[in-house]
Amino acid sequence: MVKIVVENLYFRYPEASDYALRNISFRIGEGESVAILGENGAGKTTLAKNLNGLLKPTEGSVKIDDVDIRSLSVARIARKIGFVNHNPEHQFFAEKVEDEVRFGLRNFGFSEEAADKTIQEALSVFGLEEYRGKNPFQLSGGEKKRLAIASIMAWRPEALIVDEPTIGMDYAQKWNIRRVLRSIVSEGRCVIVITHDVDFAVSICERAIILSRGEVIGDGRLRDLLSDDRLVEKASLRKPFIIELEEETGLTGLEDFDTISSILMKVFQKCRS
Ligand SMILES: Nc1ncnc2c1ncn2[C@@H]1O[C@H](COP(=O)(O)OP(=O)(O)O)[C@@H](O)[C@H]1O
Ligand SMILES: [Mg+2]
Repeated sequence: MVKIVVENLYFRYPEASDYALRNISFRIGEGESVAILGENGAGKTTLAKNLNGLLKPTEGSVKIDDVDIRSLSVARIARKIGFVNHNPEHQFFAEKVEDEVRFGLRNFGFSEEAADKTIQEALSVFGLEEYRGKNPFQLSGGEKKRLAIASIMAWRPEALIVDEPTIGMDYAQKWNIRRVLRSIVSEGRCVIVITHDVDFAVSICERAIILSRGEVIGDGRLRDLLSDDRLVEKASLRKPFIIELEEETGLTGLEDFDTISSILMKVFQKCRS
């Protein structure tokens, strides 16, 4: 399984006077589910792009399985670490949904036969079978996001980074994406979710790395970090609904929820017992 080691990473955009990332160190590995949280402009997307070679560190290093990312091609990295752009349209170019999935498989040397089988499975898992002949640009926002994830998960990268997966999603679409990401985590793959949607993050990720103004201000168990009022305020975040509810009611262990009604059921059951 993939291991990502970041050491004293600094990154500055070529035209910028100041660093977008400063002195960042952490390691991620072995099927971890990690949320990268932080305010707008904190450096989340910049960090994600440094983890998959789309950007190269100005100072310090990023290593994938002990190899410095500078010596790897973007394609080699992508084979191990898939990256889903916050705007799925930025990654689409095929005219049909099925060809969007096929493209990466071809690039990574899947035979046509293996690709056909994989496409079938991917479209089925992500609920996109009925759209296989449709133009990706004609899908709804949620479907586009699912296709973007499907076309990357098809080649089975060991880790997946998704940038702002819930932007522009309604409730049902959001929980659909959540189901998909949780199933990837349950397969033992590493999932890194970049978001400022703390309710979404708490429902998927065990760990959080919190950024503020280009620096890591928290790294640890997500629920512990987001229970810390001072840290939450410093990061311009808010507490997840589920943590607030636990604090209000004095109940614990409410994390395993799917819908508001399932939360309420749990609260009622706990209150009764
Ligand atoms: N292409 C770019 N050129 C120069 N500065 C950039 C570029 N992209 C982002 N930045 C700056 O880098 C900082 C971090 O941005 P970003 O990583 O997009 O933050 P986030 O994803 O947390 O909202 C911000 O100050 C932003 O203005
Ligand atoms: Mg961003």
